[in-house]
Amino acid sequence: MKSLPDNIVIVGAGGHAKVVIATVRAAGGEVVAAYDDDRARWGQQILGVPVKGPISAKDIGGAPAIVAVGNNRTRQSIAERLQAQWVSACHPNTTVHPSVSIGPGTVIFAGSVIQPDATIGAHSILNTAVSVDHDCIVGDFVHIGPGARLCGGVTVDEGVLLGVGAKIAPNVEIGPWATAGAGAVCVVDIARETTVVGVPARSVEAKE
Ligand SMILES: CC(C)(COP(=O)(O)OP(=O)(O)OC[C@H]1O[C@@H](n2cnc3c(N)ncnc32)[C@H](O)[C@@H]1OP(=O)(O)O)[C@@H](O)C(=O)NCCC(=O)NCCS
Repeated sequence: MKSLPDNIVIVGAGGHAKVVIATVRAAGGEVVAAYDDDRARWGQQILGVPVKGPISAKDIGGAPAIVAVGNNRTRQSIAERLQAQWVSACHPNTTVHPSVSIGPGTVIFAGSVIQPDATIGAHSILNTAVSVDHDCIVGDFVHIGPGARLCGGVTVDEGVLLGVGAKIAPNVEIGPWATAGAGAVCVVDIARETTVVGVPARSVEAKE
């Protein structure tokens, strides 16, 4: 991945944004401003980055930018509303095979391993120390929680949340906007917009 610009703007100024800033810096770039709709954050700094005010197309327009918001729906609505030069950031302490493609706006945090011929979409989050094995397809606006593990050939569709430590068996598909809870082990396909938990993972609605 090319070295990052030194004038990146981030949208979002919460805890997730701190890790985005740390990742950008470790990858040789810099974040110069953060924007957030939460008034309580305006005028404050996160990791030395000023929080300048509400999310505004006027301020973001044209800048290299990352949406630093953990919630997938919120990240999608911001990314689709604003015009920016969306950049991806990958911590240098990761192993990403050169055959891997990574979409704009996606962040990959420290300790992650992405194996050959995986495809990662736009505006997705690969959180701390995840593994994505060979030939996986990860869609747009996905959040793979810390320590989650994807075996080879897994498909994770748009908008999916995989909770901390979730594990996905080979060739399984997690349908659009589905959620696998913390520690879930998914051994069969998961239908769209379904929430599953447990080992093996089962839909929350289906529980007694
Ligand atoms: C799965 C999850 C989304 C469900 O949240 P929710 O819709 O608010 O559901 P609830 O907390 O009401 O839980 C519903 C039921 O599922 C159980 N449950 C929830 N999460 C579970 C999990 N990870 N494993 C096993 N059971 C779980 C609850 O105990 C509850 O059971 P009950 O009906 O017998 O009382 C949430 O618990 C979760 O695991 N989120 C992952 C967050 C995460 O890792 N994010 C990473 C960002 S860094």
